[in-house]
Amino acid sequence: MTTRRKVLVAAGDGIGTEVTAAAVEVLRAVSQRFGLGLELEPALVGGASIAAHGTALTDAVLDRARAADAILFGAVGDPRYDGPDAPDRPERAILALRKQLGLFANLRPVRVDEASAGRSPLRESIVAGTDLLVVRELTGGIYFGQPRGREGERAFDTMVYTAPEIERIAHVAFGLAMRRRKRLTSVDKANVLDTSRLWREVVTRVAANYPEVELEHLLVDACAMDMLRRPTRFDVLVTGNMFGDILTDEASMLPGSMGLMPSASLAPPRPDGTHPGLYEPIHGSAPDIAGQGIANPVATIASAAMLLRSSLGQPEAAAAVEAAIAATLAEGVATVDILGPSQGVSTQTVTEAIVARINPG
Ligand code: NAI
Ligand code: MG
Repeated sequence: MTTRRKVLVAAGDGIGTEVTAAAVEVLRAVSQRFGLGLELEPALVGGASIAAHGTALTDAVLDRARAADAILFGAVGDPRYDGPDAPDRPERAILALRKQLGLFANLRPVRVDEASAGRSPLRESIVAGTDLLVVRELTGGIYFGQPRGREGERAFDTMVYTAPEIERIAHVAFGLAMRRRKRLTSVDKANVLDTSRLWREVVTRVAANYPEVELEHLLVDACAMDMLRRPTRFDVLVTGNMFGDILTDEASMLPGSMGLMPSASLAPPRPDGTHPGLYEPIHGSAPDIAGQGIANPVATIASAAMLLRSSLGQPEAAAAVEAAIAATLAEGVATVDILGPSQGVSTQTVTEAIVARINPG
């Protein structure tokens, strides 16, 4: 098998460019230490691409994304391109990449170890020991359903799920549960939505293949509550596109900041057994703090670690990055979102601390 090392770096706009630059520094350091020979190729997406080409995602970049072994993505959402007169919306870039590359499985791990539990705005006794993984379906549901549109003062979206779409995300979730604590919570709104009733039926059917996994069904509103009341009870959760989006922003308050939350978006394996994927923080381009050099780079750096493990087959390098993040945070080196304005340090200071632990000297 040829070595997988070609990474497309799509920083996007806003803090996307700042946190991606940080993750690139870390990838360079880890590439050097482990002799990975990573090829990091920059590409314009989102607001940066609209500014240069008038479109959020060019065909050329899409082709390069298809050819890469993995994609490191920052964030898109430049508010300058928000209005009806804008040539394109920045967010179209990420939605199109997900859809065009078939990145149907979005993995969002949330961990709160004893040492970091004090950073959460929630009580330490509630969040300490949280170790959950949200598996969010990423290419279906209401974000992609047709028809959608607006007719004057009336607007509509469509929530659609098919049995095969639910089946394949359920297999991913059960497979991951098998490698963890063997508990799966399927989240839906089956008391109201037909798509959710189908979801529940199909997940239950798939469960027959995984008799060791304990399956529970939970309504999304009840899940939102339990995420704050008793987060340690969860192992793997599987849910649709929109519910997963909302629940994981909520879950980011368990470790204490969106700036700590990485994600992996995976396509089905290629015939040669490789797993192309896109890796990005769960947060957006944060226009409110963009350009200030204070964005937390940890979510993106942790996403780069997931990239090394899942798409490049470099578990040791991934573990080295994760250990460097944990040690840096444990030492009390963190950005404003974690430590507040008086103690928080810059994006660059956190990045240098992480790099120094990967490549001392
Ligand atoms: P956001 O995630 O950009 O920001 C929410 C809040 O969290 C802000 O107060 C922000 O300052 C803070 N925050 C986020 N990431 C942070 C970090 N790394 N360090 C410190 N603080 C951080 O969400 P918002 O404001 O709703 O959206 C901004 C734009 O981003 C919108 O245009 C939205 O559509 C887009 N967006 C893009 C995503 C993507 O590229 N995948 C995902 C989510 C939103
Ligand atoms: Mg979100």
